[in-house]
Amino acid sequence: MQKNATTDELKSAIEEHLTQTQEHVSRLEQVFEMCGKKAQAKKCEAMEGLIEEGNEIVEETEKGTMTRDAGIIMAAQKVEHYEIATYGCLVTFAKSLGMDDAAELLSETLDEEKDADEKLTRIAEDNINQAANQETDEESEDEDEENEDTEESEEKKDDEEE
Ligand SMILES: [Fe+2]
Repeated sequence: MQKNATTDELKSAIEEHLTQTQEHVSRLEQVFEMCGKKAQAKKCEAMEGLIEEGNEIVEETEKGTMTRDAGIIMAAQKVEHYEIATYGCLVTFAKSLGMDDAAELLSETLDEEKDADEKLTRIAEDNINQAANQETDEESEDEDEENEDTEESEEKKDDEEE
């Protein structure tokens, strides 16, 4: 998504969050250690689906457009919301198990996921959504012109037939 984003603002927001995510991994490893378990990577089907959706949006939008950025933001926010739900539950579980240190670590990550989500909303609202809307208007104007052309030629055909 970062590679395919149009604006530098979105690219750097994704890049920045990617760096944070490395820290999230190390926090998770610490939490596993606190539980006396070894952290192991496991594929997440739901997350894979969300990423697939992001790839589809990139495929279905034109390179270098704000429409693509608006779509990438939507896909990225779905990922953030999934993470927020997961970390939110983990914080609650840790607290109810009396694992305050683990809860603290997981809360830090939860806050960063929320910040990332809010930042994406800000980027979208500041200008990308409006610019994408303009692209859609321009596109439908082009379509209208094309339709007018065909209408005209059909009129001509009618005249000729008469
Ligand atoms: Fe995230």
